[in-house]
Amino acid sequence: MEEVIKINGGKLLNGTIRVSGSKNATVALIPATVLANEKINIIGIPNISDVQSLKEILEYLDVEVSTVSEEELYIDPSKMINKTLDIDAVSKLRASYYFMGALLGKYRYCKIRMPGGCNLGPRPIDLHLKGFRALGATVEDDGTFITLSADRLIGTRIYLDIASVGATINIIMAAVYAEGTTVIENAAREPEIIDTITLLNKMGAKIRGGGTSTITIDGVKRLGGCLHEIIPDRIEAGTYIILSAAMANHVRIDNVIPYHLDSLISKLKEIGVNIESSIDHVDVYSSPKLKGTSIKTMPYPGFATDLQSPLTALLTKAEGVSKVTETIYIERFKHCEQLNKMQANIEVNCPVATIKGPTPLVGTDVKATDLRCGAAMVIAGLMAEGTTTIHDIYHIDRGYEDIVSKLTALGADIHREVI
Ligand code: EPU
Repeated sequence: MEEVIKINGGKLLNGTIRVSGSKNATVALIPATVLANEKINIIGIPNISDVQSLKEILEYLDVEVSTVSEEELYIDPSKMINKTLDIDAVSKLRASYYFMGALLGKYRYCKIRMPGGCNLGPRPIDLHLKGFRALGATVEDDGTFITLSADRLIGTRIYLDIASVGATINIIMAAVYAEGTTVIENAAREPEIIDTITLLNKMGAKIRGGGTSTITIDGVKRLGGCLHEIIPDRIEAGTYIILSAAMANHVRIDNVIPYHLDSLISKLKEIGVNIESSIDHVDVYSSPKLKGTSIKTMPYPGFATDLQSPLTALLTKAEGVSKVTETIYIERFKHCEQLNKMQANIEVNCPVATIKGPTPLVGTDVKATDLRCGAAMVIAGLMAEGTTTIHDIYHIDRGYEDIVSKLTALGADIHREVI
């Protein structure tokens, strides 16, 4: 028995779709709360399975989690116990690695299983570990567990060889209680990092430079409670914008910070999408004629790797040859094989995919090989003639809240089925 998503394609979409709180911010904010000694109130939590896994980890650590509503949590770490993190939930998502920085920062000790997450090719964490070592921690890796320990953590200057989102956030968390000042050079600049810094500063941390390549952390002795609302999910928003570019008559994507999506919106305008952005929403209108283009994924504010798969699905509809170059995860092209099953014409020579279009897609059985491949399959299914059946949808549920209900409300013919 398996749950799948079935889509009967070709329906024009109309209406408003509301974007949830950012997954990649939430998965950093929840571990960050354990650095506090008081209750934290977080609003705008997306209802996705990654959040369930993080709640399991918190509860395992004796952190009290109370649900005020679906979107609002109280997290009280005042009675927490730092235990070895060897529960299954740790392996279900990549972001469980944020407990390394948080627990090392608070207790000078953390023992944790290797984190899981989407299989996008090699995903090393050497830069996280380099940062912890620079702060004074000893790192042991026995192949199953990573153990971090330190007598003292002392602020220092850390240069990241790659502007890694995960390493930047993890080092910030390890450094908030360190003695003296830590400076991270070549830090990543993603909005999710700024959101994490905003939460930590509300808790009493002293962090400057969020959103720039140099982040400075002055160590503090205590962090307290606060109230924080999570930023909207720019990748969920981008997915719905791309999907609307393919199938909308008129769709409004609401609860968006449009400047987080500048690189996507200008690319879509360039290929012929009728799109208008306002302060907190984006309108997409019917866009019958699209032309092929070239894109290259880059760290923020460049074109997001997480939107590469959804955009590739759309580009099968564009006239001419498109080239997609992936610079963050050079093997992130599993969606192309699935799109080809639907009669797309895509050739992959890592790190470049060449898409020849337009090729009308035809529904068939496909797999969500990872979260954003799943999003690409949903978009392709909406575009395709006939029925598309998407397997392995647990990947989609990790990052898209209620995707079936949200799209049904726009007029899509989409449902879940147990087969
Ligand atoms: N890298 C290293 N060493 C490290 C860390 C990263 O070589 O120690 C490399 C990675 O292999 C990759 C590049 O640096 O080639 C950038 O990786 P980064 O650390 O920035 O990625 P991440 O923190 O593991 C987050 C998101 C990803 C998103 C990337 C890039 C979370 C939980 N994940 O991953 O999101 O693709 O940043 O923006 O925030 C997704 O949402 O589908 C997803 C995969």
